Amino acid sequence: MGGINPYIRQTEVARPMRRYRITFLPINVAVEVDPERIPYSAEGLPGSILEIALAHGVELDHACGGVCACSTCHCLVREGSRSLPEPSDAELDQLDNAPGVGPQSRLACQSVPDGTCDLVVEVPEWNRNLIQEGKREEARGKREEAGGR
Ligand code: FES
Repeated sequence: MGGINPYIRQTEVARPMRRYRITFLPINVAVEVDPERIPYSAEGLPGSILEIALAHGVELDHACGGVCACSTCHCLVREGSRSLPEPSDAELDQLDNAPGVGPQSRLACQSVPDGTCDLVVEVPEWNRNLIQEGKREEARGKREEAGGR
C-alpha cells in the first residue's frame, strides 16, 4: 500500500530545485536528496521525509503505507522545518493520536521539504523497532547503495 489518500485534501507542495541533505537522528545518518530521483518509491507523498528515509535505508514505521491514515511515521523535525509546508488538517488530526507530540512533530509521509535548506529529523524512540530488530545490515547496504553514510 502507499500513494495518495483520495479522501483528504492534499497540501500544495513545492518540489526541490536543488540537492539538499537530511540527517536522521539518533542513528546519525545523513542522506543527500537528489530532486531528479523523486519520486523514489510509492510510500508517502513524493519527496516526503518518509519516502526519502525508506529509499536510503532509514526504516520508519508507516502502518498505513504513507497515506495520512495513522500516526506511526511521526517524527521530530529538529532543524529545517522552514522548508516544509504547514501541516494539513488531516496531518494534525493524525498527530493528535501520536505519543510524545511537540512543536517539532510532523508526519514523515506528509512532510515534503522544498529543498531550500538541510534538515535534521529525529526518529522517536517508539519508531526505531525496525532498525533495532535486525534490519541494521539491510539498511546499511541500502544507504551505501544510495550514496548515504
Ligand atoms: S504512514 Fe500513516 S500517517 Fe504516515
